[in-house]
Amino acid sequence: MESQERAISGERQGGEVPVELSLRPQRLAEYIGQARIKENLSILIEAARQRGEPLDHVLLYGPPGLGKTTLAMILAKEMDVSIKTTAGPAIERAGDLAALLTNLRQGDILFIDEVHRLGRAVEEILYPAMEDFVLDLIIGKGPAARSVRLKLPRFTVIGATTRLAMMTSPLRDRFGIVHRLEFYDAETLQDIVTRSAAVMNVEIDEEGAREIARRGRGTPRIANRLLRRVRDYAQVRAAGHINRDVACEALVLLDIDELGLDEIDRRVLETIITKFSGGPVGLETIAASISEEADTIMDVYEPYLLQLGFLDRTPRGRTATRRAYQHLGLAYSGSDDSNNQSSLFDL
Ligand SMILES: Nc1ncnc2c1ncn2[C@@H]1O[C@H](COP(=O)(O)OP(=O)(O)O)[C@@H](O)[C@H]1O
Ligand SMILES: [Mg+2]
Repeated sequence: MESQERAISGERQGGEVPVELSLRPQRLAEYIGQARIKENLSILIEAARQRGEPLDHVLLYGPPGLGKTTLAMILAKEMDVSIKTTAGPAIERAGDLAALLTNLRQGDILFIDEVHRLGRAVEEILYPAMEDFVLDLIIGKGPAARSVRLKLPRFTVIGATTRLAMMTSPLRDRFGIVHRLEFYDAETLQDIVTRSAAVMNVEIDEEGAREIARRGRGTPRIANRLLRRVRDYAQVRAAGHINRDVACEALVLLDIDELGLDEIDRRVLETIITKFSGGPVGLETIAASISEEADTIMDVYEPYLLQLGFLDRTPRGRTATRRAYQHLGLAYSGSDDSNNQSSLFDL
């Protein structure tokens, strides 16, 4: 749902756009965490600037909310070029892409979100454009058709995706730089919450920021969302000041548990455990039982449950681990033996 909305309207997200925009770090130096990626990108920027050349094409992948779009914006700012934003599903026909490409100037960045959702015909146009900076157009129809080759300015594609595996390999191969964004650890996320609170002009102490960060699922977008809700609570119930107790009370009220799991995370786990005796069970089946989109579960919920070690992915479906049972306070019914065996077969 959210991704479709974004495809049509760029980065518009709910009614909280202005805050979200101002929360975005503008410069690489303000971007918190992801140290390895930051260092690599700063070298890339410096080298391209010294040579007076555009950046090589960059592909960023990882779960939603970790800072892919933010990095793309930062790269444009640091290179002092303009950035055009689009998304895979928004480019329907080859002609749409041709129009985008012919409007780029030397050094400009074309940011393609959800780049794994580009259509075949569109991809075919993109290959020579990225590799040789040319646009091959077919003019006319039938036997009279002929192809014309247009030269494009040297530009940079930044692609972002939550699903690297769904990208075709020819497309993947055309990105000179590929980075995977990782979940943020609790301390780094705490720094992000502290920075966001300062931007939003919210009073928060260290313990309060830690509490929100701890439940932010390693994801800046979620931590920022929790911060906004806790701010509301603090404003109404605690004279606007966020400390540990206020943060806890607000988060309990929102039904976010101490690991940051919300109602849907818990329903995913409970469904696997109680309806399918711990699994393995297919993603589509889980999705149907809790009336959610399979894609949403796969993109939004599953990555963090895997990261926590609450879920295992096997060829026959998802299984809940002993830790998931423990977290939900349920008696573990599987045996560790059979778990080990199935992971042997998975190899
Ligand atoms: N490294 C970071 N430091 C500070 N804030 C961040 C960072 N990464 C992401 N954010 C915040 O999280 C929000 C979501 O990031 P975004 O780039 O839109 O994620 P993605 O494109 O990967 O889904 C941003 O608006 C920004 O406020
Ligand atoms: Mg994004």
